[in-house]
Amino acid sequence: MCGIVGFVGAEQAAPILLDGLTRLEYRGYDSAGLAVYDPERGLQLTKAKGRLKALADLTNGGNSVPGTVGIGHTRWATHGEPSYANSHPHLSNSGRIAVVHNGIIENYLEIKEYLISQGVTFHSETDTEVVVQLLEYYYKGDIVDAAFKVLHRIEGSYALGIVCADQPDQLVAARKDSPLVLGYGEGCNFIASDVTALIKYTKTVSYMEDGELAVVTRDGIQVYNNLRQPIEKEKSIVDWDISDAEKGGYEHFMFKEIMEQPEVLRKAAFPRIKNGRVELEALSLTDDFIRQLSRICIVACGSSYHVGMVGKYILEGLLRKPVDVALASEFRYASPIIDENSLVIVISQSGETLDTMAALREAKRLGAKTLGIVNVVGSTIAKESDDVLYTWAGPEIAVATTKAYSSQLIVLGLLGVYFTQVLGTMPDDEREELLRQIQLLPSKMEEMLSYTEDIQYFASQFFNHESIFFIGRNLDYAMGLEGSLKLKEISYIHSEAYAAGELKHGTISLIVPGTLVVALATYDPLFDKAVSNIVEVKSRGATVLGLTTEGRESQMGKVADAVITIPETHPLLLPSLSVVPLQLFAYYVALQRGCDIDKPRNLAKSVTVE
Ligand code: G6P
Repeated sequence: MCGIVGFVGAEQAAPILLDGLTRLEYRGYDSAGLAVYDPERGLQLTKAKGRLKALADLTNGGNSVPGTVGIGHTRWATHGEPSYANSHPHLSNSGRIAVVHNGIIENYLEIKEYLISQGVTFHSETDTEVVVQLLEYYYKGDIVDAAFKVLHRIEGSYALGIVCADQPDQLVAARKDSPLVLGYGEGCNFIASDVTALIKYTKTVSYMEDGELAVVTRDGIQVYNNLRQPIEKEKSIVDWDISDAEKGGYEHFMFKEIMEQPEVLRKAAFPRIKNGRVELEALSLTDDFIRQLSRICIVACGSSYHVGMVGKYILEGLLRKPVDVALASEFRYASPIIDENSLVIVISQSGETLDTMAALREAKRLGAKTLGIVNVVGSTIAKESDDVLYTWAGPEIAVATTKAYSSQLIVLGLLGVYFTQVLGTMPDDEREELLRQIQLLPSKMEEMLSYTEDIQYFASQFFNHESIFFIGRNLDYAMGLEGSLKLKEISYIHSEAYAAGELKHGTISLIVPGTLVVALATYDPLFDKAVSNIVEVKSRGATVLGLTTEGRESQMGKVADAVITIPETHPLLLPSLSVVPLQLFAYYVALQRGCDIDKPRNLAKSVTVE
């Protein structure tokens, strides 16, 4: 949800800013812009509507923009349509101050009205412009002074990058509820929405926290708390390489990330399995707490929520404790019934999804214990959860998540197994067998990924459908939700997922001759029931693409028009395998339809607004 980057150094800033923005484009891509200080002409703004490429073309890859200090932005529109005027950076009326922003200034109307009453003119529909005009209003020769005043006036969420022509050797950065990373280079320093933008230049970073303001110069970075007291930031070393954030010969990040999943499972699971037991990194959750736990609530958004849907079946099966799954955007306003005997598990790839963050804070306020399952190290959710289990999936760039989903699922499963060890709800031999099956998952997945031609073929048969339904029961229902979301996200085909038994309570009226139904029937105890539901839709003329386990293909073949199989595994692990063909199906359908797979229409990967 908007990417920002800033650079202060001795080299030409614009090519570096553009390079950083390329890596942040997953956050938003409807327009982009740069503000660079040119010693001859002062602050120079270059902006272009559309993808970053338009800006790169306009500036010859940044080479035509002189100057060594600047800020850049790639936008996901919230206030005001994508346009030149609404794209960032925004410039104050004197042309002296430029600002890039990620987040939403909630009280912008009130500030805008006030400034207009003071004679200030506005040029865009954005909430962000109030920041730059208010900075100018408060500016009396010291941009840091003005910035502190502005931070006390604005409400909402923000990561801000500010450059002022009167103090051209520095950038000012500030954050509240939107991510911002400081990067320490040699003779240069950076700010960025996330480390992917910096990794080519430096691996030494600090994560800004809410209320902090940073003054970034060539020689160093000084951070202040909200009382303007200087503070020392802890530095971290990013432990992955630039190649992790590049396509590496694949046409799309999404395909690369699908292919990375076996390795991702190995990284997330293997170090946590020791001698037939799950050993998790030091958690503050005590065994006594786990024993008296009255309720588990999983809270997340999007695909992470779908992991929670699968997790409910897994955890309830393993623990025989009630598990609720809530959408973060609903949870926070629903007066959730949780207390100090509840565990709230928040799942988030980015660790920055605003609704999930707010739900986490609400859970803490209500006294629940919280545990984050998070991919991005140092992210807000990781820091604010009482405990965190990292998924170690590496950077995920494609907007539609694949490898992060798989890593979240396996970590949630391991957490469930860990709880059984405390609760004694699973005999040792069963646990050992389950863990052995987890260790076999990566090679089974590799086998599935080595042959994708059949799924490509099905995609070529079905890509022109305008409506596709996914049905399944139990774990297969939870998987259908993800399969359907993946498909609609990137192919723009209308799709819905239903619990197979529920379809006849309304939605079956939409099944007409030729409607494609993807029927998931991997969960063996309910295979026969799933077949009955397939027959129901077949009787109404549906074309059925069945997904089942090896050994069931002939039975499935009798009712379905086409069959995809996955290897057998422990029943609770089926989703880890069945997600793969669903991801590939969505990918190949979108490819056939000529869609922009890594950057689907209207979406952004990191949703830092409500
Ligand atoms: C966006 C992404 C989804 C993701 C969801 C939650 O909608 O496109 O892929 O599942 O946000 O994101 P999180 O980072 O909290 O997992």
